Amino acid sequence: MRLLSVTTALVCLALLSGANAEEKLSMSDADKAMYTEMLENNPAAMEVAEGEELFTSLIGQAAYAKMLGVKEKDLPKTIANFPRFVKPAGKVVTLSQTLQMAMADVGKPVLKLESKEVVKMTAYVKSLANGQKTSIDVKANPHMKEMMTLGQSVFEERRGGRGLSCNSCHSSDVIGQRLRMQPLPDLGAKETAAAGTWPAYRMTQSQMVTLDKRMQQCMKNALLAEIPLGSKEMVALEVYVTNKTKGNEIQIPGLKR
Ligand code: HEC
Repeated sequence: MRLLSVTTALVCLALLSGANAEEKLSMSDADKAMYTEMLENNPAAMEVAEGEELFTSLIGQAAYAKMLGVKEKDLPKTIANFPRFVKPAGKVVTLSQTLQMAMADVGKPVLKLESKEVVKMTAYVKSLANGQKTSIDVKANPHMKEMMTLGQSVFEERRGGRGLSCNSCHSSDVIGQRLRMQPLPDLGAKETAAAGTWPAYRMTQSQMVTLDKRMQQCMKNALLAEIPLGSKEMVALEVYVTNKTKGNEIQIPGLKR
């Protein structure tokens, strides 16, 4: 095992960019200034507001709460608990998937997980839980236990041309090192707060992105076949990554590099 992780670290080191990578910061001073300014005035706030309009006209809080089988006043604490087992789905689902379920329930056409509308509505609905702590419970039932186990194995599975796994870049022995000038983030760290900060505005992409989409971007960068949004493996990955930062405060929309 030890040997394996040393190999992993070497693979990652081999990926680290040029000799002066250590000297450069992940963000230039100008970028940092922009980041600080955007923290005050997150461009995604408008998209969240659009998400509210869409959600209100397509579904509405009453119908949404009814579909989830909870009282409207309990929505924030329910939302903080995702991904979770949802009875009418018969499986563990993400917040975005519950929006699809609710659209079907009220007889509206079901929009794709990839659509801008679902991303905006997901951000709005999650923002209803702003200030709450993420409270995923991976031991709540056998479904959650199964998804947690699956999520961990997907996270650790080495795939693709370079034989990398998520763990190759996000395990405790490599986090903090740099890859093409970007520090490898500790997904369990308070500053990263992955679970509570997605959907987030990505400055490098000038758009709001969901956590599963962000994970697909890592797959793409590392030449791993992209796991489809909404698939069992992707939901399991979201369970696993969300559990790493369980207890962090929800602050939607997040702001990321
Ligand atoms: C080749 C290295 C590498 C691999 C492999 C990799 N990542 Fe990443 N990941 C990164 C880097 C670097 C960043 C931060 C980039 C930045 O600052 O924008 C990141 C960021 C992330 C983030 C966002 C953290 C946050 O909230 O700010 C998540 C979530 C994530 N990765 C999940 C995954 C998952 C899941 C996998 C496996 C499918 C994976 N990563 C594979 C290098 C990697």
